[in-house]
Amino acid sequence: MKPTAVTESSIHHAVELLRQGQLVAFPTETVYGLGADASNPDAVAKIFAAKGRPADHPLIVHIAGAEQIDNWAEMVPEAALKLAKAFWPGPLTIILKKKASVPLAVTGGQHTVALRVPANPVALQLLQAFGGGIAAPSANRFGHISPTQADHVAEELGDSVACILDGGPCSVGVESTIIDLTDEQPAILRPGRITRSQLKAVLQTEIRLSPQTKIRAPGMMAVHYAPHTMALLCATDTLIAMIDELCGKGKKIGILAFSQTISKLPSCPYQHLILLPEQAEHYEAALYGALRELDNLQLESILIEQPPDSEAWAAVNDRLSKATV
Ligand code: TXA
Ligand code: MG
Repeated sequence: MKPTAVTESSIHHAVELLRQGQLVAFPTETVYGLGADASNPDAVAKIFAAKGRPADHPLIVHIAGAEQIDNWAEMVPEAALKLAKAFWPGPLTIILKKKASVPLAVTGGQHTVALRVPANPVALQLLQAFGGGIAAPSANRFGHISPTQADHVAEELGDSVACILDGGPCSVGVESTIIDLTDEQPAILRPGRITRSQLKAVLQTEIRLSPQTKIRAPGMMAVHYAPHTMALLCATDTLIAMIDELCGKGKKIGILAFSQTISKLPSCPYQHLILLPEQAEHYEAALYGALRELDNLQLESILIEQPPDSEAWAAVNDRLSKATV
C-alpha cells in the first residue's frame, strides 16, 4: 500500500474505510498510528493481526477533543480534565476507568481505557470527520521501531492496511507520555515529550514513575522499539574504543552519535555514521528514522552514544534502553 496525499477526498475516503471496519494508518505528532473504529471489535481485531501483536495488549483510543472523554471513560477525576486542558491536543495519553460500552478488544481485557487527542492537523481532521474514537497503536510490526514517516508504515505493514495518509514526518518523533489516573496517586507508565515536572506543575501532586507490573503494556517490555540489528548503548569513551576495535576487525558497523562528538571519532571505512542533534527535542524527532536507516543496512551492530541522564532526555533514554541489548 502506497501512502496517499492528504486532500479533502482522501480524508473522506479514509473515514469511509474506518466505517467499513478497515484499517487506516494516519500521522500524529508523535508517530504514525494504525487506526480502526474503536467501537467495532472486528475492526480492532484487524489491528492485532496486522501488527502481530498479542490480543491482551491494550490500545490507545484517539478522540477529537476533551468533550468526548465521557463517551469512553467514567468516574473521570478532576485531574484528567486539568491535564486535558493543559496538554491536549498533544502527546499525552491518559488512562481512566472505562465505560462498560468500550469493547474489551480495545482495552486488552482491562477495565481501564487510554485516551489521547493528537496534535496533528491530519489526525484531527480525520477524527473530526469520523466523529468517533479511533483505536490506534503505532503503525509498526510488534516490537519493532515506530514509524515517523508514511514510507516507514508502507515498509512495515505493506498491504495489511487499506490506506496510509501521508502527513509528512512526525514533529515529536517518540510516543506519547502515558499517565495513569486510575489509582490514588498518578503514575507515569511511559515517559514522553511531556515531562514529569510539567505534569506535576499542573496537578500539584507527586507523580510516581511506574515500572508497571500489573498491566501488560508493550512499551514496558524489555525488548521493544528495537531494530533487528544488535544495538549497544555506550558512553563516549567506550564508543571510540569500540569503533577502533570493531573496525580493526573489518566489521560493518553503524554509529549514532552526537554531532559534537564527530571530531573525536576515529575514521573507519566500515562505518555508517549518523550524527544527531544535541538538543533533546530535535534528537527525539530524528531518532527512530536514524535507527531505521541503520537497521536497513545489514550491519553487524549499531553503536549508540549514551545521551545525558536529565529529565529532558527521559523519553529518549527509555526508548534507547529498550532498543539495545
Ligand atoms: O504516541 C502514541 O501514543 C502513539 C500514537 C499513534 O498515538 N501510539 C502508541 O500506541 O504508541 P502503542 O499501542 O504502540 O502504545 C500504547 C501504549 C502501550 O504501551 C499500551 O500497553 C498502553 O499504551 N496502554 C493502552 N491502554 C492501556 C491501559 N488501559 N492501561 C495501561 N496501559 C495502556
Ligand atoms: Mg508501539
